[in-house]
Parts: sequence; structure tokens; C-alpha cells
Amino acid sequence: MKPKVLVTSELPGTALEKLQKVADVHVHTDTVDLTKEQLIELLRDKDALVSLLVNEIDQIVLDAAPNLKIIANYAVGFNNIDIEAATARNVLVTNTPDVLTEATADLAWALLLGIARRIPESDQFLRDGKFEGWKPNLLLGRSVYGKTLGIIGMGRIGEAVTERAKGFNMNVLYYNRRQLPPEKEQKLNARYVNLEELLCSSDYISLHAPLTDDSYHLIGKRELDLMKPSSYIINTSRGPLINEAELTEALKNNKIAGAGLDVYEREPALEPMLTRLKNVVLAPHVGSATIETRVEMANLAIENVIAVLQGERPITPINPKVVKN
Ligand code: DGY
Repeated sequence: MKPKVLVTSELPGTALEKLQKVADVHVHTDTVDLTKEQLIELLRDKDALVSLLVNEIDQIVLDAAPNLKIIANYAVGFNNIDIEAATARNVLVTNTPDVLTEATADLAWALLLGIARRIPESDQFLRDGKFEGWKPNLLLGRSVYGKTLGIIGMGRIGEAVTERAKGFNMNVLYYNRRQLPPEKEQKLNARYVNLEELLCSSDYISLHAPLTDDSYHLIGKRELDLMKPSSYIINTSRGPLINEAELTEALKNNKIAGAGLDVYEREPALEPMLTRLKNVVLAPHVGSATIETRVEMANLAIENVIAVLQGERPITPINPKVVKN
């Protein structure tokens, strides 16, 4: 009998066809996400799960799936999964690192340039038929070239954003749980500082830290107050890193110059006021959303599932200790 797999969404590319050759696959094709109750029901007899970041996998879900061997999360972040509970139940968890690094770094830069140069406002201005010709003061933004970029969380994506800053001749500061080795700092041309110095000195701040108990609301009123009124904040990591209500207040009162957001504290809901502000560019969590990247993410997630179903080590385990058991 073939192993049984639940995939909580359709995936781009042909990875699912590959999986269907070796497993009995149930794909949730409805665009409305599975409720927790539905997820529990569908998982009862499954050996593997391919989940999205919107699927919360906690102890209750895990307890309802006694045959589960692997959860392949279709994302690099895995804050939607209780890793400790999965490990305790001998369930491997995998994610999709590396393949989405460059696409996400590109989006951080798209938001940075978009807000600095007021691209959405300019687009709307033209569509509204307001363009009457070149004017010295028309839609002035702020320069990026030669400015200071502050990176919070210097992991793979933080590094890729920093590499791109070389083309803009930027001075790069970074704050991370650990300081990087000197050779790495030299290669990136980035200087390690504490969070306060980064907030006070940067013209552009980009967040690339995972969501953990420590990073929840890392940026709140105190931190926003430390930022310069001419500076911008970009978030392509996880919404709850920023206190969204406080950010909205800071933007509304022009305490900071602007923000570029791809992620939100209570997705898919936004602070209602955000959509009325001009000094913020908003994207609907599309950091990794290129065709090439999403296909690679699907391939990696499915390869992880197939490896585990065949008794092999997955490519990108989060809790590899389970493998040794
Ligand atoms: C991730 O991978 O964690 C993103 O948020 C979705 O690509």
C-alpha cells in the first residue's frame, strides 16, 4: 500500500506529479485554507504533510496524526509549527531554505526603492490624470545611493540584501544574535552594532530575523522613536516583529519617513489605517513569489517528503535529531 500524504494547497510546477507516483496524495485545492478541524480530520491516516505557513501545526494537530513521519513546510520560516512537539513525537520537520533567498532579497529592495522613490504614489498620480509635465518639486523622494542601511538579522536573506547594497555604495550596519566572523564582515562590508545604534544611525532598516519569542515586537514605540524622521523601515520577514499599531501611528504622525511591508502582524488582516497612508508601500506576503522560486520550493518540499517516505534523510531538516532515533 502506498503511503498517504496531505498537501494543504496546490503547488506550482510538476513536483506533485512526482509525489503522486510514490504516494496516495490528497491535495486541498480550495482557495480557502483548511480550518484546524479539517486539517485534523484529513491528517488522521496520513504519513506525511506538506504544509503552508498559514497551517498552524500544534500539539493537538500532531496528536491526531499518529502515523505522521514528516511535515514539509512550504516556506523557510517555520513559526507555524511547534517544533518541540513534533520532535517529541518523532516527526521530522523540513523547510525550504536557500531557494528563496534571492527572490526575497529582491523584494526587500523593491520595497525599499519603491517607498524611497514613491513609485506607488507616482503610478497613482499618472492613473488619476494628474501629470501636467515636469516640475522641480514633483513627487520628491529620498536618495538611496551612499546612505546607511541597517540590517536586523544577518542570515542568508540579510546577507543577500547586503550584497545588493554594494551597488548602491551603502554603509551597512547590522544587528544579529551573533556577530559574524571578521572575514564574513569584511566580505559583506558590514559593521556589527547594537540595536539602538542601528536604529539611530540608519537611513533604511530592513528586517530579516525569524519570528521567535525574542523577536516578537522587536520594533515597538521605543525603537521607532529612536529612528530618524527621515528614515524608512522595510519588513519582508514576519509581521509580528513589528508592533503594527505603533508603526501605523509613527507613519501617520511622520515620526519616520516611510515603510515597505510585505508581512503583517495578523495576516491577512492589516491595521486599517495602513491602507490610507501614502508613506507606506504594501505587498501581500510575496517575498518568494517568483515562478522560478516557488517551483524550486515545491521541488525541495516534495523531495524532502519522498526521501523520508523512502527511509532516507531529508535534504533540509529543521529537527535532524529525529533522523537519528
Ligand atoms: C517563507 O518562506 O517563510 C516566506 O514567508 C514565504 O515564502
